[in-house]
Order: sequence, then C-alpha cells, then structure tokens
Amino acid sequence: MSTDAERAAGRPRAAAVDANREATGAIAPTLRKEAEMLLMNKVAVIYGAGGAIGGAVARAFAGEGARLFLTGRRRTTVEPVAEEIGRAGGSAEAAEVDAVDERAVDEHLRRVIDKAGRIDISFNAIGVGHDGILGVPLAELDVRKFVLPITAYTTSYFLTARTAARHMIPNKSGVIMTVTALPARMGSPLNGGYGSAQAAKEALTRDLSHELARQGIRVVALRPHGIPETSTLREVHAMKAKASGMTWEQFTGYLGSMTHSRRGSTLAELASMAAFVASDGASGLTGTIVNMTMGSLDD
Ligand SMILES: NC(=O)c1ccc[n+]([C@@H]2O[C@H](COP(=O)([O-])OP(=O)(O)OC[C@H]3O[C@@H](n4cnc5c(N)ncnc54)[C@H](OP(=O)(O)O)[C@@H]3O)[C@@H](O)[C@H]2O)c1
Repeated sequence: MSTDAERAAGRPRAAAVDANREATGAIAPTLRKEAEMLLMNKVAVIYGAGGAIGGAVARAFAGEGARLFLTGRRRTTVEPVAEEIGRAGGSAEAAEVDAVDERAVDEHLRRVIDKAGRIDISFNAIGVGHDGILGVPLAELDVRKFVLPITAYTTSYFLTARTAARHMIPNKSGVIMTVTALPARMGSPLNGGYGSAQAAKEALTRDLSHELARQGIRVVALRPHGIPETSTLREVHAMKAKASGMTWEQFTGYLGSMTHSRRGSTLAELASMAAFVASDGASGLTGTIVNMTMGSLDD
C-alpha cells in the first residue's frame, strides 16, 4: 500500500510517516510495518469520526493500514481528522453524512463502494448531545425528551449496520461495530433515555450477529467505562452536577472507584481494542459486547 512516489523512492510508507511526523510535529497515528498491520487493505467507514471516540478509532485504524472513509454530521469536525491521517501517510476521505438520514447513509456508502470496491468495517461512533436529556429525574422528564436518545442511537446504528450488511453479504465478509456504555447494563440516576438507548444498541448487536454471522459478517460492540479525557464526560458531569452536587474530581473519583483499576477508560485503550476487534485476528468474536469496564460490571 505504499504510494507510487514512495515505492519509486525505495521508501516504505511507515518510514515516510515517521519523517512526516518529525516535519510537522503533529500528533499523528504511528503506522507499523506493513507486514505487521492488523487492517492492511481493509476499507472502513466511521460514522461520527469528528468526535472523541470516532477520531481515536480512525487514527488507530489508519495506523493499522486501513483505507478510511470518515463521516460526520458536520464536515468541519471530520476534515481535520482526515487531514491529520493523510499527513501521517494514511488514507482517509472526509464526508458530511447525517447518520440518522437513510438516504444520506445509503448514497455515501454507494460512493464508497464505487471508489473502493467494497466495505470491510462499519463503525458507528455517533454521540447525541445531552442538553435537556441528562440531569432531569425520570419522574419529571418529558416523554419526547425521553425517547430522543433512544430514537437517534437506534435509528443510526440500525441504518448504518443495515446499509453495510447489504454490501457485505455478497462478499461473505465484514465487521459491524459500535460503542455502548455502562448504563446499558447498570442503573444510574438522571440519565433520561440514555441507558435505554445503549441497552437497545447492545440488543441490536446480538440480533444483527444472529442473522449475519453465517454470512461471514461479525457484529461486535465495545463498552468502555467513562473516558475522563473526552468532552462528553465533562458534559455529563455538568448536566448532573446541579442535582448530584459533585465536583469534577469527586465525579471522576466516583467513576474510578467502581473499577478494579480505580480509574476510567482511555481513548487509546478503546481505539486499540477497536482495531483488534475489527481485524481477522478476532474472527471468533461476534454477537457480543466487549466489556472494557475494568471490573465494574460482571459478564
Ligand atoms: N466519552 C465517553 O466517556 C464515553 C464512554 C462510553 C460510551 N460513550 C459513547 O460513545 C459515543 C461517542 O462518544 P464521544 O465521547 O466520542 O462523543 P463526541 O465526542 O460528542 O462525538 C460524537 C460525534 O458524533 C457526531 N454526531 C452526532 N450526531 C450525528 C449524526 N446524526 N450523524 C453523524 N454524526 C453525528 C457528532 O457530531 P456533532 O459534533 O456535529 O454533533 C460528534 O462528532 C456515544 O454514544 C457515547 O455515549 C462515550
């Protein structure tokens, strides 16, 4: 997968990437030697790639040699991720795709197939804003606000998974992935419909796998613990702070105290797990949720 120019210069892509990083000083994905890359020649589409998790997964996939098609609700958040990957020697194209819009998802994937010939990995990392959704007791919550995250998350995951499956089935190969969260399996206060939405995504993961695994398609979700370095967790804290009275330090201390490791998850941990799960090395993994909550939840 070296470019023609690099091949002509007798320089492997990984070396070109290192030189590029020195030149720009940017925090860039580290590309491994091509023979060691987990996702060499894989075509991956990421939804919500401008977000914390989507961006981290994109960088990890690029570092493992995947050809990336990055999408988000706003092109402005996705473009910098694609540019960074491109500067580091990877392959990433950005596009504006509203992942709850059936036509937009379908048309984008048709363009991907036209260009790349296939899709190997579909990763849905969209995150719905929490404004007015978190922090209100269920007994006081408006029903329209309650269903908002449930509708958005399940519609988006269903649409992106279904569209990917339709293109993967003829190839008898592919991996469909998403990310869920602790409230899918554990009661937590002031979460509105967020826990129900995450639980629905986990159920859909199992059902998709049941129908698709015999056709060579794996479906796996990753369930990290809270990730303190993300703005999402800051937002969650801000929304709940008034009712809970916890400072940020108390909030993250409480989250950490739930785990055996006494800390939250990191983006790097989630991204490297995502790359492994997406790879052929994880061929025995489907219809399940990878529990990355470090002991907070028993399987
Ligand atoms: N961060 C954590 O600690 C954590 C832990 C466990 C699970 N999760 C889950 O992981 C997911 C992503 O979290 P995150 O922290 O990466 O969130 P984030 O940083 O807010 O990123 C979410 C991204 O999704 C995009 N998006 C929203 N609606 C979309 C749509 N309809 N179509 C396309 N893109 C859309 C957002 O774009 P805009 O900016 O344009 O809205 C944003 O770029 C969420 O489901 C979250 O619940 C997060």
